[in-house]
Amino acid sequence: MSIPDWKAIEAHLGGCPWQVQVFEEVTSTNTLLKELGRQGAPAGTVLVADRQTGGRGRLGRTFLSPGGVGVYLSALIRPDCAPTELMHLTCAVAVAMCDAVENAFGFRPGIKWTNDLVVGKKKLGGILTELGLDPKTGRVSYAVLGIGINCGQCEADFDESIRAMATSARMVLGRPADRDRLIAEMVKALEKMDRALLTSPEAMLERYRADCITLGREVSLHRTDSVTHATAVGIDEEGALIVEYPDGRREAVSSGEASVRGMYGYV
Ligand code: BTN
Repeated sequence: MSIPDWKAIEAHLGGCPWQVQVFEEVTSTNTLLKELGRQGAPAGTVLVADRQTGGRGRLGRTFLSPGGVGVYLSALIRPDCAPTELMHLTCAVAVAMCDAVENAFGFRPGIKWTNDLVVGKKKLGGILTELGLDPKTGRVSYAVLGIGINCGQCEADFDESIRAMATSARMVLGRPADRDRLIAEMVKALEKMDRALLTSPEAMLERYRADCITLGREVSLHRTDSVTHATAVGIDEEGALIVEYPDGRREAVSSGEASVRGMYGYV
């Protein structure tokens, strides 16, 4: 199996000014790009790897990253703002990734709040955004946008631990899916997202709400000391999930404070 083909990616990039670097193997494109971010790499630096030996997911989880089949991509941006102005960042990346998949393959995934791309009840991909702050000002120095998307896997290619919950572009399409094309569409969509990030968050959040399959569903909220049940009824202006409890009480839940699980299967 070949590694992502830089020339093929470039051919699909059009006039996009971002700089894509392709690696055969890294520990984690996010970890590597955070280091480059600290060293002053410019906004628009993008790392893509054929495989990761230490791929990371949210909440300290491992993100299995075998070669030849998945897209493992991290992009560096440098928004000039306070970290509190980026509460919607992961939502913005999720909408951009729905656009990218749709542009590459003609189907649009849904978003499982906050950061999973899903098709049917199965996970197509995930997003891990990480911020670096300027220690003097407390403002954002850089953000690393890390995305993993299952592209060329057949069902049997997934590790047994995730097989029942995972899908790929190839499985959705029923034919091989062009990984280089997907990478290029991801880069273009992220570049466009970055340009609108601080100017039109509300328009983006409207699109997020339209793509979010969690809304209207029963969810369970797992905190360290309790599990409660509620209905997901909205997404607020910071990307928090608004849930309604059986007694009518409403609460905004941020992604860091509770793990939200669908009550029926993966979603
Ligand atoms: C999740 O599903 O919890 C998030 C998964 C994010 C995986 C991507 S793959 C590229 C980048 N490098 C990493 O180590 N993680 C992200």
